[in-house]
Amino acid sequence: MYYPEELVEEIRSKNDIVDVIGSYVRLQKKGANYMACCPFHNEKTPSFSVSASKQMYHCFGCGAGGNVFTFLMQYENYNFTEALRVLADRAGVQLPEMEYSEEAKKAADLKARLLEVNKEAAKYYFYQLKSERGQNAMQYLKNRALTDDTIKHFGLGFSNKYPDDLYRYLKKLGYEDELLRQSGLVTIDEKKGAYDKFWNRVMYPIMDANSRVIAFGGRVMGEGEPKYLNSPETPIFEKSRNLYGLCFARSSRKDYFLLCEGYMDVISLHQAGFTNAVASLGTALTTQHARILARYTKTVLLTYDSDGAGIKAALRAIPILKEAGITAKIVNMKPYKDPDEFIKALGAAEYQKRLDEAQNSFFFEIEIMQRDYDLADPELKTRFYNEMAKKLLQFTEELERNNYTEALAQKYMISYDSLRKLVNRYGAQMDSVQVAKATIEREKEESRKHSKPEEGMKRSQRLLLTRLIEEPETFAKIKDIVEPSDFTEAFYNTVAKMVFEEYDKNGSVNPARIINRFEDQAEQSEAAKLFSTKIMTPMDEVQRRKEFADTVVRVKKNSLELQYQKAVEDNDFVGLQSIMEKQKGLDRLHSSLNLG
Ligand code: UTP
Ligand code: MN
Repeated sequence: MYYPEELVEEIRSKNDIVDVIGSYVRLQKKGANYMACCPFHNEKTPSFSVSASKQMYHCFGCGAGGNVFTFLMQYENYNFTEALRVLADRAGVQLPEMEYSEEAKKAADLKARLLEVNKEAAKYYFYQLKSERGQNAMQYLKNRALTDDTIKHFGLGFSNKYPDDLYRYLKKLGYEDELLRQSGLVTIDEKKGAYDKFWNRVMYPIMDANSRVIAFGGRVMGEGEPKYLNSPETPIFEKSRNLYGLCFARSSRKDYFLLCEGYMDVISLHQAGFTNAVASLGTALTTQHARILARYTKTVLLTYDSDGAGIKAALRAIPILKEAGITAKIVNMKPYKDPDEFIKALGAAEYQKRLDEAQNSFFFEIEIMQRDYDLADPELKTRFYNEMAKKLLQFTEELERNNYTEALAQKYMISYDSLRKLVNRYGAQMDSVQVAKATIEREKEESRKHSKPEEGMKRSQRLLLTRLIEEPETFAKIKDIVEPSDFTEAFYNTVAKMVFEEYDKNGSVNPARIINRFEDQAEQSEAAKLFSTKIMTPMDEVQRRKEFADTVVRVKKNSLELQYQKAVEDNDFVGLQSIMEKQKGLDRLHSSLNLG
């Protein structure tokens, strides 16, 4: 969904970043800026700075940064549209209705109405639970140690014993049969008529990331099959994309998530203060789930059931998470079956200990594998070592592979050298082309990263951009000397183009607006960093001028060097001449800038 740039800019400019961030974080004025302890990483001395004039923030500790939109996206885990809506609301700006095609309009309309139906149903079930008829259900939940607050927080409810109670209620509210059928809450049968999908069950509303009810799970009270009945997939409910508890976990502000198996695990974890718990419901973890998780966290602690099924589910989840860039760890809950039981028996503090001790997922995989090999039997032992060696090959980076080899050698009492030899043999034997390819790719990537422009050069380019933004008068001095192409780092170049464009158009630069032009959060942070390069030592006017001259010349010199190389490669002798002229002029340039 796209909103016009001017509107986005209007909303941004009407939300002062100091006010907005100040409502989340305690800001202290320090010179021209405001400082605080960074909300995005743990620290004791403030390195998080908010600039009123630039309307952006930047953390010198962890590199987080951006404008007011970026902040809400990072802090609340909103996507851009969500952040825009909240800030539009805050500033009293009306967002226009978007133009839809006829078909899209119909689909959106159906979704909106299905959401309504689900919301009404949730209210109804909640009301039933509180009523006389819901006494047994309420008792059931109380027996499971849920508090009134928790019941309310998760909106739990009860579907009573009448087979078409909800249907009649929703009809009274005016919803038509076809819509109710599509909601999955009602089955409409030609012969039997309409009847509710759920009856005589405790009801768990399933919410999307924005806390809207999109489906239900219903549990029998006591024994009975099926234990849980879930809404079917509908236009608003896709199992493979939904994580139960995400609407709360997304703003839990912990740097890891807990992934568990079911409704009750999530609920009791949240009740015990672990508000970062989520579960994939009625389906194994999918790549889509993992991708959603990756939007919020880099680490997931798997707290699946301790039984065989739970172990199997964990073994399946680990590579899926890894593929999405998430590190998985395994929580040991023995002798209890799941988090719900564990917490009921030992309490939150003990559970936290288990989280702190969560096991590296690779060790977990090896440990489970070992169960198939009796190490007292030399033959099986040998086979186990061989399997272990093969598995070690999944680490394509040598240092990492060696570290794991060393750890496993110690743990399973085999000498490091023997295990490493075994690993290397398999490495050579097995289809190692892949490994080699990966290594080469990575080395290439490394050398790209470390070669020119060097860190120092990048820093000079950053310094110059920061200067240009902080002191608009400097722009006039360099505008005939420096061009965007002198910023040789690709990303810096993109930003420099925008900065120069803004100067040409407005005679000044608005950093927060430039940040807006990037869609990706990482790029927004990177841009904020470009505009926040600190000059380490305090300087007087003379020193500042010299530093400025140094920086400009350094940036220019580097750019000319690269142009020179290119001209040589291209046999461009005419170009070469002019480049050499410019190189000769650098000294003069330096002194003229230095003299002011
Ligand atoms: P569990 O059987 O572990 O349920 O199934 P649980 O969450 O611990 O529930 P309690 O504590 O017995 O009440 C894990 C998840 O698998 C799905 C549900 O999402 C459940 O939370 N499931 C289980 C079903 O969809 N249908 C079933 O019949 C059973
Ligand atoms: Mn359970």
